Amino acid sequence: GKGNYNHFMQKEIFEQPAVIGDTLHSFINPATRSIKLPEMPFNIGDASRLTIVACGTSFYAGLVAKHWIERYAGLGVDVDVASEFRYRCPPMPKGGIALFISQSGETADTLAALRYAKSQGQKILSLVNVAESTIARESDVVLQTYAGPEIGVASTKAFTTQLTVLACLAVTIGRENGTLSANDEAGIVGALTVLPKQVAEILHHDEEIRKLAVNIADARDVLYIGRGLGYPIALEGALKLKEISYIHAEGYAAGEMKHGPIALIDPLVPIIVIAPSDDLFEKTVSNMQEAAARGGRVIFLSDAKGLETIGDMASATVEIPAVADFAAPILYTIPVQMLAYHVAVHKGTDVDQPRNLAKSVTVE
Ligand code: M6R
Repeated sequence: GKGNYNHFMQKEIFEQPAVIGDTLHSFINPATRSIKLPEMPFNIGDASRLTIVACGTSFYAGLVAKHWIERYAGLGVDVDVASEFRYRCPPMPKGGIALFISQSGETADTLAALRYAKSQGQKILSLVNVAESTIARESDVVLQTYAGPEIGVASTKAFTTQLTVLACLAVTIGRENGTLSANDEAGIVGALTVLPKQVAEILHHDEEIRKLAVNIADARDVLYIGRGLGYPIALEGALKLKEISYIHAEGYAAGEMKHGPIALIDPLVPIIVIAPSDDLFEKTVSNMQEAAARGGRVIFLSDAKGLETIGDMASATVEIPAVADFAAPILYTIPVQMLAYHVAVHKGTDVDQPRNLAKSVTVE
């Protein structure tokens, strides 16, 4: 049941410190500060290339993983949505590994993409929340998220636990192919280990985010922007909002604003900016200023250092704990989930069962 919560989605958002912790405990050895994934019948460090295929929120987890694996493990990654991939039938690299991400493990397009990759001689890895699922059964290696059953149609805890496992996968590939040292690994493990506590800290901003949500509930369009690891989180924030509040929302790579989307901005359009103070921070801030100069209502998500830099340029801010660049996408997901949730509650939509949507898309 929902326990003391009003909706499954709310319960699942608040379960995140615990389930991220459970997922980490399955893959991390705190004593040696190292990561241990299940045994694989091949050496993942030998992969020539990785192809990631998924749908919806699981696809966005794939976009974060691409960034991590390219940057921290030096392995080239292609990411695609399953419904495109399966009909394009792309050539696949010799010595390639293909990874399928699916909470349910039953998404029809993702399963069809898996079967295609298998026919192309790829080693098949999957990341699922449901261990006894079709996608898991047809894979060479199964990685599991320990999110527990996710009931709300809008995916929340499945996404952040997918990211948690994908972070561990990126480190494992980097270690096995010689890109990451044991020291690098220990540093990343340290950053991951503090996540449950930091996620819990963000959950304390619930009332503040609820108040922000009241001001967004009347918007017709909402934009989310971010760069680097923040870009997929902008996409995820926008998907969450449109799914459950029915407000039109789009996520953009902040650097793309000038190439079109900035034309949408007027004083009625809230812009949510995902901006951890990482190496791309200054660039994201200048995109934010361009939006603010055109009257956009900016809601700025950053850490104390970032918030100090921008002064009162934003019309609202949410402070996120300072975090290693690597771990930021997991933390910045939490406020965008909470924002979507509160907007939907304020509008009175059916949060757990939004119109036209099913939890698991088992027909194409
Ligand atoms: O079970 P899967 O992870 O394969 O599902 C993929 C998508 O259908 C799913 O993430 C969908 O986009 C969610 N409703 C997003 O909140």
